[in-house]
Amino acid sequence: MAPNLLVLGGTTEATALCCVLAAQGVRGTVSFAGRVARPVRQPLPQRVGGFGGVDGLVAFLRSEKITHVVDATHPFAAQMSFNAVDACARTGIPLVALTRAPWCSVVGDTWTHVRDIACAVAALDGPPERVMLAIGRMHLADFAPNPQHFYLLRLVDPPQEPPPFPDHHVLVDRGPFDSDSDLALMQEHRISWVVSKNSGGTGAYAKIAAARRLAVPVIMIDRPPVPRRLEVHSPEAVLHWLHHGVTDLGV
Ligand SMILES: NC(=O)c1ccc[n+]([C@@H]2O[C@H](COP(=O)([O-])OP(=O)(O)OC[C@H]3O[C@@H](n4cnc5c(N)ncnc54)[C@H](OP(=O)(O)O)[C@@H]3O)[C@@H](O)[C@H]2O)c1
Repeated sequence: MAPNLLVLGGTTEATALCCVLAAQGVRGTVSFAGRVARPVRQPLPQRVGGFGGVDGLVAFLRSEKITHVVDATHPFAAQMSFNAVDACARTGIPLVALTRAPWCSVVGDTWTHVRDIACAVAALDGPPERVMLAIGRMHLADFAPNPQHFYLLRLVDPPQEPPPFPDHHVLVDRGPFDSDSDLALMQEHRISWVVSKNSGGTGAYAKIAAARRLAVPVIMIDRPPVPRRLEVHSPEAVLHWLHHGVTDLGV
């Protein structure tokens, strides 16, 4: 049977994979959670919205006659990754994750590693600072206990509700970003701290490089645990898995 892929998307890497799949004439659908108003246009058919947990995903895989699943979600989208592993185990459909390595600090970086968002909030429990809070919109409310800071927010869509801290500036923009522009942005807003998820990849790294150049400290939120699954790191490796299969973890 000709492959019919489900790509769990929402990342630059997923978009790059869809371009390669479309160029190769591979049939597939890319899925978005629906977190942003205007997802980046894809060269494959797309669907938007949650599946309804593992049961819903199993039903989707069966009704759409999906033959392979590629989990190309963001490293912080752990729930979706667990659901994909469970649903593929239940249906016997092969699964691979297209992942990117976490960032590592280099000379000149001043990082405080924290385990999760709650620990990032706790790390900001101090005198007023000027914080670039680069974590997307989903967890902004968690930072309400620290209203003493100025927060620079960069969001894909304008916020539907005002952020829960009085002193802030919202920038509506979509990556990839570059280090020179982020350096200028941080200077303009006199940023003294950056809060970032350890997303890895290139598109969101500009603020980390800019922070290094300005000697601004970074609160780096570690990745959540994700399930053990087959992982590859490039669209070409996904194609190889699709056509030849692979047996070792960590390809
Ligand atoms: N978390 C981040 O920092 C981040 C950053 C950039 C992009 N993204 C992208 O944004 C999406 C949501 O991230 P999240 O952290 O909220 O995910 P999550 O916590 O792992 O997922 C929560 C629920 O959202 C739905 N969902 C997530 N990804 C989906 C997808 N690609 N297609 C269809 N449904 C999806 C699923 O709902 P059901 O249980 O109903 O199926 C899932 O159980 C992901 O696709 C991710 O790639 C996330």
